[in-house]
Amino acid sequence: MATDNNATSAMSRYASVHAASFADAERFWLVAAEAIDWEVAPSRAFDRDAGTYGRWFPDGRLNICHNAVDRHVAAGRGEQVAILYDSPVAGEKRRISYAAMRDAVATLAGVLADLGVERGDRVVIYMPMVPEALFAMLACARLGAVHSVVFGGFAANELAVRFSDATPKVVLAASCGIEPSRIVPYKPLLDAAIAASAHKPDACLILQRPQREAELVPGRDHDWAETVSAARAAGRKADCVAVSATDPLYILYTSGTTGKPKGVVRDTGGYGVALAWSMGNLYDVKPGEVYFCASDIGWVVGHSYIVYAPLLHGCTTVLYEGKPVGTPDAGAFWRLIQEYRVACLFTAPTALRAVKKEDPRAELVGSYDLTGFRSLFLAGERADPDSVAWAERALNRPVIDHWWQTETGWAIAGNPVGIGQLPVKHGSACVPMPGYDLHVLDEAGKPLPADTMGTIALKLPLPPGCLPTLWGSDERFRQSYLTTFPGYYDTSDAGIVDADGYVTVLGRTDDIINVAGHRLSTGGMEAVLASHPDVAECAVIGIRDALKGEQPCGFVVLKSGVTREPSEIERELVASIRDRIGPVAAFKLALTVARLPKTRSGKILRGTMKKIADGETWTTPPTIDDAAVLEEIGESLKGRGIGG
Ligand code: COA
Ligand code: AMP
Repeated sequence: MATDNNATSAMSRYASVHAASFADAERFWLVAAEAIDWEVAPSRAFDRDAGTYGRWFPDGRLNICHNAVDRHVAAGRGEQVAILYDSPVAGEKRRISYAAMRDAVATLAGVLADLGVERGDRVVIYMPMVPEALFAMLACARLGAVHSVVFGGFAANELAVRFSDATPKVVLAASCGIEPSRIVPYKPLLDAAIAASAHKPDACLILQRPQREAELVPGRDHDWAETVSAARAAGRKADCVAVSATDPLYILYTSGTTGKPKGVVRDTGGYGVALAWSMGNLYDVKPGEVYFCASDIGWVVGHSYIVYAPLLHGCTTVLYEGKPVGTPDAGAFWRLIQEYRVACLFTAPTALRAVKKEDPRAELVGSYDLTGFRSLFLAGERADPDSVAWAERALNRPVIDHWWQTETGWAIAGNPVGIGQLPVKHGSACVPMPGYDLHVLDEAGKPLPADTMGTIALKLPLPPGCLPTLWGSDERFRQSYLTTFPGYYDTSDAGIVDADGYVTVLGRTDDIINVAGHRLSTGGMEAVLASHPDVAECAVIGIRDALKGEQPCGFVVLKSGVTREPSEIERELVASIRDRIGPVAAFKLALTVARLPKTRSGKILRGTMKKIADGETWTTPPTIDDAAVLEEIGESLKGRGIGG
């Protein structure tokens, strides 16, 4: 009974907070804005006439590095650990205090300023999970420069595309990343990307890691350690530069429906306010506590919850350069929670499935003292009910799914534990966060009743923290998100809202697939396959995978007259995706088929192919040109032990 009462009062507290964010949005967000320091406090929260759908805190001025670093030192947190770096792959651990982080960031910002970086300039960061990568992001923010972090698992071609679009003045990179099975030399990829890109950066600052040092290009490349120590010896430091709240803080590229990634722009003020709100209200974490987000700084989750949010909130952030399993075992997360007294862990369901696979009875959990650990948050893909139930039993703590996108920068829907935990419904990402006016629409844009599946759309404006546009292309932003349902942002996620207002996200409505929590475009992979000289046409779909959620599978039709062994061509296709997109695509399955199933108007029936591959029941679409082709697809999959 007490539990029912608690749930009822938590629901009514949540409902009144959510309602207040619309009833008086100005007041709601101006109060939230008090959590951060402003050089010029905003006089209003929102200007609906600015930008593509309005802008947040239009007249506010601030510096986010000051908010994440300097102000905590000034407030007496100088000796508190800001970053707990733990790298089983490098065999290294470091504790960096807020005071030490401020000095490192200010010095690096001085180095960047000496390399000519100014407010508004772009800087690409191509680095693994090392503290210097965080210093790099914060040093850019300190100068008002716009960083763009590129994930280490991408190939040179993907890096080159980002160079051409963001036109960085300077690149900050490490000599290598470290995967459990191999060293990943970054420098050859960087050099190849610069060679392939029409835009050339003025300078590169290279962090030499002892595991694989890189050769430096004279005149262009600078040794990180030498340059920084010379700056330190000269007492060179740069101060925080106040920028407009609407200035871009970063660009983060994410898969779009074409091969060309979308440069999601993040503003400064709205982002800072949204993240600061989320730390207490959504994650229920207090300043001084330890927050562990086991993502990568190359993803949005890493930007928001390894770097900016915990530091804005005065927490200690855990920077883990390792995997959930294999470094050394499936107890890695529990070891980190014990060693660092972690209050909140945020990871992807795929990581949990990897742990569950290795340690199904969760025996390793019992080997660690998890005192002080309060909750586990999951995002990146739908948290499957089995894994959530397994983790609840193993940890005896709330396990919370929450849904978001690179575009939004923070959760669209979640369980606001800090306001009061709502009952968990397995499979649902819970309720919309403040400022998100969420609707499920049919194809004509009409709202659907509860429990009916449709496209999830967010009525404009989007709340603070969400993207104002795409880098250099308001038009692509409008076309991609705002035109399908006028007045709404189209999430391209399908789902339902139940009678209690709980949101369940069921999958994408476009060609994006989700592989191990990584977002990938099948269109981008098809472009690579189609460029093979022996390939006439192709289709890539995501097929169900017990560990990674989905894995890509490419069907190819060879040109007539090709006499080479299909298996040899398939190996080349697998290699070319690794080479052009990167190992992160996890593309291992290319299948040669005689024909692709199509409608009479020539549209490839990817949805039906996926159902066949996933072993689901399927019906022959009435518009199909030749129904026999579906049988052939089924046979070719069975030949590889896939489908039913
Ligand atoms: N740099 C270079 N290569 C990388 C890389 C990086 N930062 N991260 C991954 N890769 C490589 C891997 O080594 C692997 O290469 P391989 O084909 O030679 O084995 C490939 O990219 C695919 O990696 P991944 O999909 O991550 O699979 P995995 O087998 O290495 O690990 C999991 C599986 C489930 C343990 C891992 O995917 C995981 O921890 N996922 C969580 C993802 C996450 O946190 N996402 C953020 C959203 S919240
Ligand atoms: P990314 O932009 O890489 O964060 O990927 C965003 C996409 O991942 C979303 O559009 C969803 O399809 C999926 N996603 C992320 N979190 C969840 C979740 N909790 N439940 C369901 N899908 C999710």
